[in-house]
Amino acid sequence: MATGDIVREQWATRFGFILAAVGSAVGLGNIWRFPFQVGQEGGSAFLLMYFFFILLIGLPAMLVEFTVGRRTALSPIGALREVGGGAWKYVGALFVLIGFVILSYYSVVAGWVLRYFVGSFTGAYMDEPGEYFLDIATGLDAVLFHAAFLAITVGIVAFGIQRGIELAVKLMVPAIIAIMLGLAIYAATLAEVGEAYSYYLSPDVEVLQDDWRSIVPAAAGQAFFTLSLGMGVMITYASYLGEDRNLAEDSGVIIAFDTGIAFLTGLIVFPILFAAGIGAADPGAGAIFVALAGAFAEIQGGTIIGILFFGMFAVAALSSAISLLEVVVSNVIDEYGIDRSTAATAIGGGIFLLGVPVALFADANNEPIMVDLYDILAAEILLVTGGILLMILVGWIYAEQALDELRKGIGDLGALGEVWIWMVRVPVIVVLIVSLYLAVTGYWAFLTTDFADFLGM
Ligand code: TRP
Repeated sequence: MATGDIVREQWATRFGFILAAVGSAVGLGNIWRFPFQVGQEGGSAFLLMYFFFILLIGLPAMLVEFTVGRRTALSPIGALREVGGGAWKYVGALFVLIGFVILSYYSVVAGWVLRYFVGSFTGAYMDEPGEYFLDIATGLDAVLFHAAFLAITVGIVAFGIQRGIELAVKLMVPAIIAIMLGLAIYAATLAEVGEAYSYYLSPDVEVLQDDWRSIVPAAAGQAFFTLSLGMGVMITYASYLGEDRNLAEDSGVIIAFDTGIAFLTGLIVFPILFAAGIGAADPGAGAIFVALAGAFAEIQGGTIIGILFFGMFAVAALSSAISLLEVVVSNVIDEYGIDRSTAATAIGGGIFLLGVPVALFADANNEPIMVDLYDILAAEILLVTGGILLMILVGWIYAEQALDELRKGIGDLGALGEVWIWMVRVPVIVVLIVSLYLAVTGYWAFLTTDFADFLGM
């Protein structure tokens, strides 16, 4: 087990690196967050914007993180200190803070998944799927499962993750894909499938025109969140790369996997939601849980499928949570020389406390209100801010070195290198700034309406 970074650990194979990055990317963001964002933001209009942002922002931003990580072979604080000097290390510190915030509520939602996994053995959620979610989403149960999920995450990270992750993802990712395909086929047989597909798949330009002020920041935030960008996960993972591979090709593969799995989730969830008569208007944070629990109650062999699905879902969440905690832990190890298990345990304790309010408080309808408060702040505001700062640094200050790094393993980039850097320099930064502005405005509206109501103000 590594203590400190005397010899930096490395991925055993290129496939292992790709799968670990896919493991980080594929998680609650694809299976939980994506469908409820689609539902809240007008269906296919959101989907279109999301695809656009994955290509316009996600791909260039992932290349930025990969080149910085591989070139410096350091975790984010050290990497940004080396790349930008002086004050840029505080951006690395911001990344650590973001990881802290995201994992605190991520773990609460993952705790729900764990609860459903346990419940699927007895069919606990099948009688009253809607009620069941509201019962377990907040309260003592939620706190305990939040603690349990975080304890598993801490345990793995404390042990040193390279061999653990690389091995686990090789089993996990194929299993996820197989189970998702099976469920998508099942969903395609439901009577309401036509209505659901057209809601999900036929782009409605009018919705986009009317609601772009909330769709744009939601889609940009989701693009960052689902690809694990904006807080240095991909810097950290690329810092464990040995020989020089083709980073552009790797990014393409990772993005294709992540986007494919999110897309597949929509093909599963919307037919089931329509079939259950819930529709997709505003399904909220409980959508996926309620929809799938309802479906598993109906179908042949639902118990087994439920066990498989929620087991897979929990593992997917775990391999993402590990990457979030690893960023915080590896920075603390590098900066303060604290040993890995102490760091992981102490940080895990802090993250647990920050997540407790999310697991405790419900609004008048018993919905878990704090999730939105944390989630919008993290995805639409913090990650996008992290992204903007990193794009400025690499696009305008570190461009030559970044280009040089990208060339390794590719050779001559031709005009594409310039295209990438100029994408980062102007359109990506401009779109992100607009998106951040809209997000802050929207968040303020949320705080002064829904959230103020909850506080009784
Ligand atoms: N991408 C993961 C998901 O979709 C979550 C995640 C892991 C993440 N690491 C991250 C999100 C870093 C933002 C930043 O579930």
